[in-house]
Amino acid sequence: MKEKKIGFGTYPLRGPICTQAVKDAVQTGYRIIDTATRYCNFDAIAKALVGQTRSDFYIISKVWSDKQHYGDVFKDLEFTLNELQTNYIDAYLTHWPNHKIPIEETLLAMRELQDQKKIRHIGLSNVTTRHLKKALLAKVPITWVQIEMHPFFFDRELLLFCKGHSIQIQAWAPLARGLVKEDPLLLRMAKSHKKSPSQIALRWILQHNCLPLPGSKTKQHIEENFDIFDFSLAPSEMDEIDARAILGQRRRYDWDEFDFSFEDCWPKSAEY
Ligand SMILES: NC(=O)c1ccc[n+]([C@@H]2O[C@H](COP(=O)([O-])OP(=O)(O)OC[C@H]3O[C@@H](n4cnc5c(N)ncnc54)[C@H](OP(=O)(O)O)[C@@H]3O)[C@@H](O)[C@H]2O)c1
Repeated sequence: MKEKKIGFGTYPLRGPICTQAVKDAVQTGYRIIDTATRYCNFDAIAKALVGQTRSDFYIISKVWSDKQHYGDVFKDLEFTLNELQTNYIDAYLTHWPNHKIPIEETLLAMRELQDQKKIRHIGLSNVTTRHLKKALLAKVPITWVQIEMHPFFFDRELLLFCKGHSIQIQAWAPLARGLVKEDPLLLRMAKSHKKSPSQIALRWILQHNCLPLPGSKTKQHIEENFDIFDFSLAPSEMDEIDARAILGQRRRYDWDEFDFSFEDCWPKSAEY
């Protein structure tokens, strides 16, 4: 990818606020945009991209967990393309695992869509190493894994496994939904680099060779989050953040609809 290695997250933005945020992101220089059918913001993103050259952008979208049967994947992608007003998306990911639908079935559909040039790359979101190993048995090339990753949590086992299989990681909630800005460890590092704690968090992700996907509706934050390419964290600083993040826990959503598949996905100790 020739784009700067940061993407723009669009959850939970919708409507005119989303359109304006994406326009601000594009003006700032972001060329990678993350969305999903579940976000209900394709139309708002399409409006923001009117007049832009499609091939300058890398658009990521995700199919929801109850739409991962073979035929449903085609329908979801058709809806996605229509709403985004494009002929293809760059990366198409499963949004959450669903153990009631064999992953091979979903990946087979995605592979066919790839052959039809309607999607460029295939990925999975919210998986553990165990899920990913299972998915790889389908022999469909996986380019991306999108997971929760921020200075309060990272899955080092999954990072190492992905590295070994040339799979790239996208980090969702890279700012821990804004929590990073008050963190003493990041504040200390921010002071010494004359940067903000958010920029330290994003830089930490970047230096792990992962793609941060910060979301924001605030122009100043959108610009600040992009301004991370003129400094580096020392190996000792990386280690310090790693040491804390590895002890962290995934954010667990308590939506009922996930419970059937989360038992596979989330260890009981991660519940909070
Ligand atoms: N695959 C998945 O299941 C999944 C799950 C969640 C999210 N995602 C993707 O990942 C993206 C990012 O995750 P997220 O939006 O949940 O969390 P996030 O990016 O960690 O945090 C977003 C929050 O941080 C604030 N913020 C942004 N930049 C800031 C800055 N420089 N200083 C202070 N506060 C700042 C934003 O407020 P303002 O709007 O005021 O800036 C917003 O409240 C989403 O937009 C979505 O595209 C994927």
